[in-house]
Amino acid sequence: MTRSSLETPRANAASAPAASLTGIRKIYYKPDGSVLVEALRGLDLVIPRGEYLAIMGASGSGKSTLMNILGCLDRPTEGRYELDGAAVESLGDDELSKVRGQKIGFVFQAFNLISELSIAENVEIPLLYQGIPAAERRARAIDSLRVVGLENRTHHRPRELSGGQQQRAAIARALVGKPAILMADEPTGNLDSHTGRAILETFEELHANGLTLIMVTHDDRIADRCERVVRLADGLLESDRDGGGRGKRRPA
Ligand SMILES: Nc1ncnc2c1ncn2[C@@H]1O[C@H](COP(=O)(O)OP(=O)(O)OP(=O)(O)O)[C@@H](O)[C@H]1O
Ligand SMILES: [Mg+2]
Repeated sequence: MTRSSLETPRANAASAPAASLTGIRKIYYKPDGSVLVEALRGLDLVIPRGEYLAIMGASGSGKSTLMNILGCLDRPTEGRYELDGAAVESLGDDELSKVRGQKIGFVFQAFNLISELSIAENVEIPLLYQGIPAAERRARAIDSLRVVGLENRTHHRPRELSGGQQQRAAIARALVGKPAILMADEPTGNLDSHTGRAILETFEELHANGLTLIMVTHDDRIADRCERVVRLADGLLESDRDGGGRGKRRPA
């Protein structure tokens, strides 16, 4: 693991938390305008910069809805969301995608790698949207692949990699834009326990280097390795506890 590529997460104000949610509600409506589901019902959550947080809760409790809002993939119906000190509700759609590209890396549960592209090309995708020249894109993709130990797989296609390697490539893609926050929706859900552990070790090193990490998991053993565990129930925070795990930031 190299430290160089992760040392300077972008930030607005040194003192602002990575994310701050106040009174967040998310209502899904029926086509006739009546309420279908109130998925989040007035949620407050502050995520300090550099935290390693697990989000847990029963199916349907609102975890993915919360992740989508945190990741700027969706907007709340009501409430205030400050990302890195900036009020998200005041941003237009174009500005919001720009902020998302600069500050957030998202690891989807199903990897979402494009099978026709090589691993390096997959990792370069977020940089394409930022208009970064080809040579720099490739150099940064290789840097990012080095972080997850895949620098010798750059020309492979996704199907030529194991499941755990594909997940690591997805993490490299999430990291290539040097986000301040990495979000992962059940990143170890499809992996055997050995490979899952290797992914967690990668996360713990990234966390030790200062990255803010937010992960949805159903597994108590994984949550116990995080610094903090919040549990959702029916669209509200049910509990908020110390994870007390090995993900604790190492002394500098
Ligand atoms: N696009 C949508 N339209 C309508 N209702 C939705 C939509 N997305 C989610 N919901 C509802 O909102 C609630 C919260 O869903 P969410 O996907 O956030 O749950 P979750 O905690 O991620 O569950 P799981 O562990 O099963 O992934 C559920 O009742 C769900 O049916
Ligand atoms: Mg979900």
